Amino acid sequence: MLKENLKYHHCLVFPDSKDITYYFSPGRINIIGEHIDYNGGLVFPCAISLGTYAAISLRDDDTISLYSENFKENGVISFSLSNELLKTGIWVDYVKGVISEMKTDGHRITKGFNAYIFGNLPNGASLSSSASLELLFAEIVRELNNLELSDLDLVKYSQRAENNFVGLHCGIMDQFAIGMSKKNYAILLDCATLKYDYAPLELGDNVILIMNTNKRRDLVTSKYNERCAECAEGLQLIRSNYKEVTHLCELEVSDLPEIEKVIADEVVYRRVRHVISEMGRVKKTFEALQINNIELVGKYINESHKSLKEDYEVTGLELDTIVKLAQSCEGVLGARMIGAGFAGCAIAIVKSSAVEAVTKKVKAGYLEKIGYDCNIYIAESNNRTTKI
Ligand code: GLA
Repeated sequence: MLKENLKYHHCLVFPDSKDITYYFSPGRINIIGEHIDYNGGLVFPCAISLGTYAAISLRDDDTISLYSENFKENGVISFSLSNELLKTGIWVDYVKGVISEMKTDGHRITKGFNAYIFGNLPNGASLSSSASLELLFAEIVRELNNLELSDLDLVKYSQRAENNFVGLHCGIMDQFAIGMSKKNYAILLDCATLKYDYAPLELGDNVILIMNTNKRRDLVTSKYNERCAECAEGLQLIRSNYKEVTHLCELEVSDLPEIEKVIADEVVYRRVRHVISEMGRVKKTFEALQINNIELVGKYINESHKSLKEDYEVTGLELDTIVKLAQSCEGVLGARMIGAGFAGCAIAIVKSSAVEAVTKKVKAGYLEKIGYDCNIYIAESNNRTTKI
């Protein structure tokens, strides 16, 4: 049914298309480990069932034509693979960026195609709609051009697209989660070494709720890059005394009193304190999961939000409101913002039996305080980007 639907729409935009193939790329949530991927930290994300679909038909030239149902106002966007790929400032840059980075490394990409795209991930909601799109096209381009690239290569090209082409200095978490996930597992990823383990996502009789504030992030790139720069500054100051440190996440919470002596700027110190304490919480969360102590997992999740709010300052009224409402409900073990922050989504770990009551209470409280609705749904884990 889904494919029929995609086919129908593909043919409306690109009439007379034959041999249509279909792909799906998920979004992601992150259980814990926020804003530490670009500091060499451990993160704990998993792919989700919401994501981005593409229906593709080959062309007999080297033009790529893209149409996204989510950005109808942009119409069909076409570019030739023979020309230099230029940044446009709209969604298509995520696709161009991946191809451009692959071409920079000498990969021969010549196959033109038409793509109809449809995503059920809310954009700008911290569920990684951009990485979903990057991996979707990394996968499509690899397959159509028979490129000898591993799944991990696709992850790296997608991150490079974001860093070099789009200009967001993001870490690798989102692309890794989307390009490497397995259903029913979360990935414990060490962003310093890219070593990873799949951990079964077993939460007993609890589920993860995704709570979308419906507040879209705007201008987040500059604030995100500002946080990266503050961390780099903190690291540099620490290195003037402790030369052997290469990433902030190598440090322990017990090092903080010494660190405070070398970082005079109070803001930079708080950023560093978030990073180091968050790294500690990821380790403790993983240990708690291994002994099935989900209550404890919830506690670290609550602490993560507090640190992101007070030390890292990447929350905001909507996220703080939704998280506080969730935390006040019976049956909620923990709640926190996810992703870059400022707006978008939070998650909550909730007893299955309490989902209905929690949803009702959070929705009503949010509407009363913020003046518009939030959306709440149960997160389902998913596999990596694939042909469907
Ligand atoms: C965004 C970035 C990720 C990561 C998160 C915060 O989603 O793309 O690399 O830094 O923010 O943890």
